[in-house]
Amino acid sequence: MKILVTGGAGFIGGNFVHYMLREHPEDEILCVDALTYAGNMETLAPVMDNPHFKFIKADIADRETIYAIFEQEKPEVIVNFAAESHVDRSIENPAIFLQTNVMGTQVLLDACRKYGIQRYHQVSTDEVYGDLPLDRPDLFFTEETPIHTSSPYSASKASADLLVQAYHRTFGVPVTISRCSNNYGPYHFPEKLIPLMIANVLNDKPLPVYGDGKNVRDWLYVEDHCSAIDLIIRNGRVGEVYNVGGHNEKTNLEVVQLIIATLGKGEIQFVRDRAGHDRRYAIDPTKIHNELGWLPKTKFEDGIQKTIQWYLDNKPWWENIISGEYQNYYERMYGNR
Ligand code: NAD
Ligand code: DAU
Repeated sequence: MKILVTGGAGFIGGNFVHYMLREHPEDEILCVDALTYAGNMETLAPVMDNPHFKFIKADIADRETIYAIFEQEKPEVIVNFAAESHVDRSIENPAIFLQTNVMGTQVLLDACRKYGIQRYHQVSTDEVYGDLPLDRPDLFFTEETPIHTSSPYSASKASADLLVQAYHRTFGVPVTISRCSNNYGPYHFPEKLIPLMIANVLNDKPLPVYGDGKNVRDWLYVEDHCSAIDLIIRNGRVGEVYNVGGHNEKTNLEVVQLIIATLGKGEIQFVRDRAGHDRRYAIDPTKIHNELGWLPKTKFEDGIQKTIQWYLDNKPWWENIISGEYQNYYERMYGNR
């Protein structure tokens, strides 16, 4: 199979490239990535010499270039990870989220129509369902939960999902969608909660917890997300949505306290809350379990230890990031918070 992976120089896309080359050495992986602030060729360095891997720098919203890539490379399966992915940045500047997440998705879908493919898979998020109340632990997101978004980021992802479903119904493009909960693991950009806290502890900086720290996220080790997508593109039913999550809900405070306990230091600082901050995410993964036999393999207690160890062992990867333009971002986001 020739698989086009967009956004493969980012966190989950990068892990997916590594996962697929390891688990399916017979497949060919073509990675297309615009290398925005979140894309990092260091993440792909270990596979650049693999004869089954090829990288092309391109913007998914650049129609001419994307059409040329489809024409020359003839991918059979598309897995679209490429996106602006950070909620806080979407509050600061929504426009680029619409451009990449919505218009970029449309260009890819048009290319699929024009050149023909076996499967287009959209990597979506549980954030399209909005949030759940903290006092109703009996409630979970199912695939039938109405779309109800909170941030420009989640609104852009929901728009893309609707477009993907419309291209299936109207034009017959063979699509699938996965909606996953919060991922964590190696190569996670240090603007996100877990790597930001690890980096701050290691640099003796305060740990900025938004609001009261009681917001709940449903954490999944990134390789378990990769295995779910792998199963969906091979065995998932065309036109279907699959929720992906491992019943691993934690408050932000619990996560940060675990990082402090593991590293033996760190000082929490409560800061102004995120605007529109979603309270709780929780996935019901019954459908993907029953239909495709998917189950997560990594328990949070093990995954978080592996992740912290990875950041200890790979300091140059994240120190390069936080020594550059990231410092301006950090000052804008946390300076007067
Ligand atoms: P990320 O920000 O780490 O990586 C995004 C990648 O996309 C980067 O390599 C970036 O350079 C690339 N990119 C951005 N704009 C592009 C464009 N116009 N053209 C081509 N490439 C472009 O994001 P991530 O956390 O790896 O998330 C990947 C996907 O998974 C996103 O679609 C996100 O919505 C979804 N998702 C993320 C999570 C999570 O917890 N991180 C959970 C569920 C779903
Ligand atoms: O649920 C899936 C989503 O998970 C993905 O679609 C997004 O791409 C991904 O970024 C993530 O979104 P969140 O907003 O949940 O992740 P983030 O790491 O930004 O924040 C996790 C929680 O931690 C959230 O409640 C906000 C809080 N937080 C975050 C940061 C960066 C803090 O308290 N302090 C911080 O400095």
